[in-house]
Parts: sequence; C-alpha cells; structure tokens
Amino acid sequence: MDQLLVALDVESTAKALALADALHGVVGGFKIGSRLFTSEGPAVVRALVERGDRVFLDLKFHDIPNTVAQAVAAATSLGVWMLNVHASGGTTMMRAARDAAHETALRGGLTAPIVIAVTVLTSMNAESLAETGIAPQSSVLDHVLRLAELTRAAGLDGVVASPQETAVIRRRCGQNFAIVTPGIRGAGVAAPDKDDQQRTMGAREAISAGASYIVVGRPVIAAADPRAAAEEMLRFDC
Ligand code: C5P
Repeated sequence: MDQLLVALDVESTAKALALADALHGVVGGFKIGSRLFTSEGPAVVRALVERGDRVFLDLKFHDIPNTVAQAVAAATSLGVWMLNVHASGGTTMMRAARDAAHETALRGGLTAPIVIAVTVLTSMNAESLAETGIAPQSSVLDHVLRLAELTRAAGLDGVVASPQETAVIRRRCGQNFAIVTPGIRGAGVAAPDKDDQQRTMGAREAISAGASYIVVGRPVIAAADPRAAAEEMLRFDC
C-alpha cells in the first residue's frame, strides 16, 4: 500500500535493509530518522534509493535559512523522496528549503523531494507549549493550524500531524496539501500497545480522516513477522 511508510527505527544498515527486504512490495516507502542516520550516515539512504525504495528523510531541519537550504540540497542530491523541516523555523527558512529542493533537483536532473513541515511535536501539550512562550490560552490545535497555514503559505507540500489533527488540517488546507500522520495503532496489530504515542488511530481510520501517508514504526518493525504485521494493519480498521 503506497500510503504506508515504515519507520526504520533501528540501529544498523544491516537491520534496516533486512526490514526493507521483508516489506518490499507491501509498503510505500521507508522513513529514516535521526537515530539511524546519526549511526550510519548517508550510506543507508543511498542503499535504499539505489534499490528503488522511496525514502522519507525525517531529520526535521531547523536552523538559519542558509544552513537549512544547504542541508536540503544535500538530501535532494541523495535522491530522497520526502524530507522535513520545522515550521517554527519560519517562512524564510521554509522558502529556503523549498527553493533548495527545487533548484538542486533541476540542476541534477532529479525529481524534487516532497518538502513538509513538522507543526507541533506530538510529545508537546499546552503546558509544554506555554513553557516555550506560546500564549497559554492558545490550544495545541490552534498552534498546529497556525503553523500548517504558515507552511502552506510558504509553498511547502504539507505537514506532519497527529491523527487527531488530520481532519481539521485537511479541511483548512485543502486536498492538495500532504498530511503525514504518525501515531498509528489499532486493530490487526498483534500487540496493540500504544508505546509512548498518546493520540492514536488505526491505519484506515487515519486515511479516512484525510492522511495522505501514515507512518508506522514499532507495530511493524518489532513484530515477529513485519510483513504480516503490515498486511494485517491495512486489512483491519479500528
Ligand atoms: O513506533 P511508532 O509507530 O510510534 O513510530 C512513529 C515514528 O514516527 C517514529 O519514527 C517517530 O519518531 C515518528 N514521529 C512521531 N511523531 C511525530 C513525528 C514523527 O511519532 N510527531
């Protein structure tokens, strides 16, 4: 299923490639985050790209615009299919990311990656947002929507959002805005624990709510049979 992206949250290239082999043809792509990238570097991205896999490079860039542009250019040259930045880096930073992706792809004869932004981390709540200076009367959802609209206005392709925010972002930002949703748990998963995810939804339920892509980690990669777990997850709904 093209919309299912599996988070390769493992420590080695060998484990990542073994999972990719096991899941080939069942999932739409693989997410590489800071753990695997920091341990193994760009070689693991190249290995997956060379095999024809779609790679979502989840490094959540957040820095001055020039530095983010250079990082996005490097990721684009690696051939990643999707990458992300933090929306709280602001409009100038997000535009720099978008422009770097398009210009680098054009120069290299590549397809530009989908560039999305993280709005509010799903580990944050109203209290932790208030600690960072966000007005206490502003709800998490208000802040998510503000940053989603900023992202769209900056010309990025979409956002990462929790399942609970997906439907309202879809209504606010339209059909062409990509919404990538982690926090997927539910029926069909052998051990339907939530782990540390607070606000969860089943895979099909999240897609019905408007997610363009869902990101699943532990329910698939920690399963005894990851391929069967991915297939089961898509077969059932919550
Ligand atoms: O194991 P699990 O299904 O919870 O994995 C979800 C993946 O999505 C992890 O790689 C996690 O870092 C990532 N993620 C998330 N929440 C966000 C952004 C990314 O869970 N807001």
